Amino acid sequence: MKSLNKDIIIAVDGYSSCGKSTFARAIAEELNYLYVDSGAMYRAVALYCLRNNIIINGTFELVRIIRALALIDIEFKFNEQSLKYETFLNNENVEEDIRSVEVSEVVSLISKIREVREKILILQRRLGERKGIVMDGRDIGTVVFPEAELKIFMTADVDIRAKRRYDELKEKGLEVSLSEIKKNIEERDHQDVNRKESPLAKADDAVELDNSNMTPAEQMVWFRMIMSRFHK
Ligand code: DC
Repeated sequence: MKSLNKDIIIAVDGYSSCGKSTFARAIAEELNYLYVDSGAMYRAVALYCLRNNIIINGTFELVRIIRALALIDIEFKFNEQSLKYETFLNNENVEEDIRSVEVSEVVSLISKIREVREKILILQRRLGERKGIVMDGRDIGTVVFPEAELKIFMTADVDIRAKRRYDELKEKGLEVSLSEIKKNIEERDHQDVNRKESPLAKADDAVELDNSNMTPAEQMVWFRMIMSRFHK
């Protein structure tokens, strides 16, 4: 791709399971930018709380979570072998552990807590200080970087998202039902859009990418066209 006038911030927001992180990682790679998966930050906080018995059976005392925040340090480091940024919690690589079912089950509870969001916001803004970053999430273009030079809002038809997730899990050898997956996606959409703190919303100046009928390669063609406005 042609070089840009200057480094920019790219915010990628959207519904769950519509391929945000795959797309965001690919565009960061193309631009040689830092890629930050902001969901991983909420997942790291959830993992810390589970490991330290702060969340037990899906319940917790808010004050214990707030107190724990001072003890949590989250970083992203580039792995030269996997060629991916990986998540570190207090200097430990937790990239695998944060994707576990246990973490997935409690992370939406964690991401609703105002104090958690405030702490993560500070980390997110620090990562964006030097620009040259792609961050994906739910509130990146609206709350974290409202001044981002490029905001992309991703959507895809819910049946298509469910089918993609179904194929992914089947590939991993898991026995799942398509209707259950669809129900789960719809519930998550509802939670993301309706929560009080930083709900998922399309920023007024975001460009929409509906990838229901697009291949990853077609998404990149779309992206290059959008990026032409930033070229020298
Ligand atoms: O994208 P994901 O499934 O890894 O996100 C994990 C959780 O974090 C999910 O409940 C949504 C939440 N999240 C958020 O509230 N704000 C963000 N910017 C990113 C993720």
